[in-house]
Amino acid sequence: MKPTISEQYLQNRYAVFNGGSTGEWAIQSIETITGQGLSKPAFLSKGNGHTDYKDAVWSLAGIASNERYVITEEKQQLLQKQEGLGRKEAVCAALIPISKSDEWWLMPQDRRRKIFEEQSQHTQTGLQYLPAIARKLYHCRDIGGEFDFLTWFEFAPEHKDRFDELVYLLRKTEEWKYVTHEVDIRLMLAGK
Ligand code: HEM
Repeated sequence: MKPTISEQYLQNRYAVFNGGSTGEWAIQSIETITGQGLSKPAFLSKGNGHTDYKDAVWSLAGIASNERYVITEEKQQLLQKQEGLGRKEAVCAALIPISKSDEWWLMPQDRRRKIFEEQSQHTQTGLQYLPAIARKLYHCRDIGGEFDFLTWFEFAPEHKDRFDELVYLLRKTEEWKYVTHEVDIRLMLAGK
């Protein structure tokens, strides 16, 4: 018998990003940062696995999960500053799929946390860009995806330079030495 996945699970946690000829987001650019690139279709649609995207040239699926690295104080800072997705003014978005090396995944959790925060200040740097940038992280390593993570960001057009600055800073960190595959997809809400 095929295992069933609950409706609630699909609605709340599972996301599928489809590149194709239709979708709510127009793809403006796709830049390969590390590793193999992705083709550039005209649009991106974001679904929850129910819809059959026949025209998709690629589909990337991920699961929103619990946090692995944040400690209490950071969690409070994030909750105070962050805003949700879907803001009216946030018509720009970025989808940045990322994979990390075997070396990263073989490390124990405390060692990874040290690199992620104590050495790279991922959360503390990211916090400086809230609430302008809204974010959501999807995990895909455990479902055998092409990437380990799908990172999604939304912001207003006037904050694009700030987003570029943040990405530039993160890519210079110790954490990014473990990134083996990264593609930077920039989008604009279709019709804007
Ligand atoms: C907008 C500001 C940002 C903030 C506040 C932020 C914050 C965070 C936090 C708190 C986590 C850890 C979640 C956990 O505990 O599991 C995380 C993970 C992650 N973030 Fe960011 N981030 C930001 C921007 C970015 C950007 C621009 C990228 C990509 C270029 C990125 C890529 C990732 C990845 C790949 C992970 C997963 C890391 C892992 O589990 O190894 N983040 N982020």
